[in-house]
Amino acid sequence: MTLRASSAQPSAEVERTRRLYHRVAPLYDGFRILWSRWTRPAEQALDDLFRERIHSGVRILELAPGTGINVERLLRCASGFESYLGIDSSEEMLARARKKAHGDARIELRTGDATDLRAVAESFDFVVCTWLLSHLDAPADTVRAALSKLSPAGTAAFVFFTKPTDALLRRVLERLGGPLRYRFVDTEPIQRLPNLERFESCAAGMATLAVFRAPAAPT
Ligand SMILES: C[S@@+](CC[C@H](N)C(=O)[O-])C[C@H]1O[C@@H](n2cnc3c(N)ncnc32)[C@H](O)[C@@H]1O
Repeated sequence: MTLRASSAQPSAEVERTRRLYHRVAPLYDGFRILWSRWTRPAEQALDDLFRERIHSGVRILELAPGTGINVERLLRCASGFESYLGIDSSEEMLARARKKAHGDARIELRTGDATDLRAVAESFDFVVCTWLLSHLDAPADTVRAALSKLSPAGTAAFVFFTKPTDALLRRVLERLGGPLRYRFVDTEPIQRLPNLERFESCAAGMATLAVFRAPAAPT
């Protein structure tokens, strides 16, 4: 199993979430369907972005595809893509994503640490990352690393868990964050990154979408 480009040992952070998703994988899709109803505006925005910006020739990188919700989205909304690479630390989650890929030869699902992209030499026209950042100690660093892989005029879309506006909901979710290994993402360092095109929240502030667009190549 390839977990880090620079070391055979997974980091403590990766090990924690890997153990969690080993247990969660069989239940994940059922939970995700319910969750997606709550966060529908973000789901719809991703459908629209996939339709608008993924076409023939587009190379896609996904950080933490999990059970392949965005693989399904890709085949449903933008099936003309060139190639797709997804990197997730949980083999149990990826096993489910592989089924959704239906043997499509353009789709590669790799076990690894999506926070360490040093071994990924290519650049990409579209990067997507949904619901990973709240598991990370330094989410803005991962966003920055992903942006560095964008080709000119490329798009990167992140959906992540943020502090709800409602105080009761906030307290309940804070309690669940320990066992489920997540925390609300601090939006400020992400909003300060360059080339931010769009930044919006839904579901009582719980779900935030950040879209970046790299500058076009000089003509
Ligand atoms: C909440 S799930 C999101 C899955 C999928 N993106 C979705 O929208 O349903 C979080 C995923 O992040 C993966 N993950 C957590 N830390 C990771 C890391 N450092 N590198 C790669 N994958 C990671 C987990 O294995 C899990 O599949």
